[in-house]
Amino acid sequence: MGHRTVDFPAWLAERVQHVEGVLDQLLPPAGTEPESLHEAMRYAVLGPGKRVRAALVYAAGEASLQSGTAAAAQEIALDHAAAAVELIHAYSLVHDDLPCMDDDALRRGRPTVHVRFNEATAMLAGDALQPLAFELLALMPIAPALVVQASQLLARSAGSLGMVGGQAIDCDSIGVALNGDQLQQMHSMKTGALLEASVLLGGIVAGAGSSARQGLESYAAAVGLAFQVVDDILDVTSDTATLGKTAGKDAAGNKPTYVSIMGLEGSRELLQSLHAQARAAVLPLGPAAGRLADIADYIVGRDR
Ligand code: IPE
Ligand code: IPE
Ligand code: MG
Ligand code: MG
Ligand code: MG
Repeated sequence: MGHRTVDFPAWLAERVQHVEGVLDQLLPPAGTEPESLHEAMRYAVLGPGKRVRAALVYAAGEASLQSGTAAAAQEIALDHAAAAVELIHAYSLVHDDLPCMDDDALRRGRPTVHVRFNEATAMLAGDALQPLAFELLALMPIAPALVVQASQLLARSAGSLGMVGGQAIDCDSIGVALNGDQLQQMHSMKTGALLEASVLLGGIVAGAGSSARQGLESYAAAVGLAFQVVDDILDVTSDTATLGKTAGKDAAGNKPTYVSIMGLEGSRELLQSLHAQARAAVLPLGPAAGRLADIADYIVGRDR
């Protein structure tokens, strides 16, 4: 679906539905032994996520394609990359919600995995989603050198120097007054890294050259951080029904957030500048990067 023919809400809705089908296909089917583990994995992944990370993979792919249209193999590879980031993301949410972390009972408008199943199953479902993501990358039908790059990127972004590292800082920072740099570091790691990886994976699969990759990197750093700034704002300004997760959790848990450190106004100002940075970064990529600009608008303007 090209950027010129379909408006953004319709494009996003179609991509969300598409990746939902891909995930449904690529997860072990319901009923596979051990049944409750696979049921929990499917419960964690399928269902009403926004699929922002998958959308970023597809949009970055569209922005980076040399010929303008993806070859069939590239389309499969983009599907696998989009599914892989959604699997890592879903696992991070399952573990984030555990009693030993944020202790949340509601996610995507439903009971969290450890509430619906039990803690051990939630932990194991998260554990199992992770290698599945890398298996999907390994099965991408593109040049092996690109598969290696993609795998290394996702591993780095998800691990101790990325998402998990950010989560560790988050756990250690309850009741701690982080300064602005420390907060940015934590947010860029725990949330930004995986969003950045999503953008760059799309670029890798679509064969982006080094100048396109530079634009993608700068865009990705800005939207990655912006995403968590918005998450912090919505925790204060939105409600549980809209979010599908418990509002007011950050203050209740004494978490350092952009709102607690810079206030709502300061957070919104930062958001505007990140938004401008993201849009400026993809301008040189031309009209093919239109979806990336649209996603930046969506991330900044979203209400859930
Ligand atoms: C929530 O991510 C957790 C953060 C990293 C802020 P999303 O807001 O993308 O959650 P879903 O996938 O739409 O449920
Ligand atoms: C989560 O940040 C970041 C992850 C890596 C999952 P939050 O703890 O703020 O995410 P929510 O608000 O529970 O979705
Ligand atoms: Mg958390
Ligand atoms: Mg949380
Ligand atoms: Mg949050």
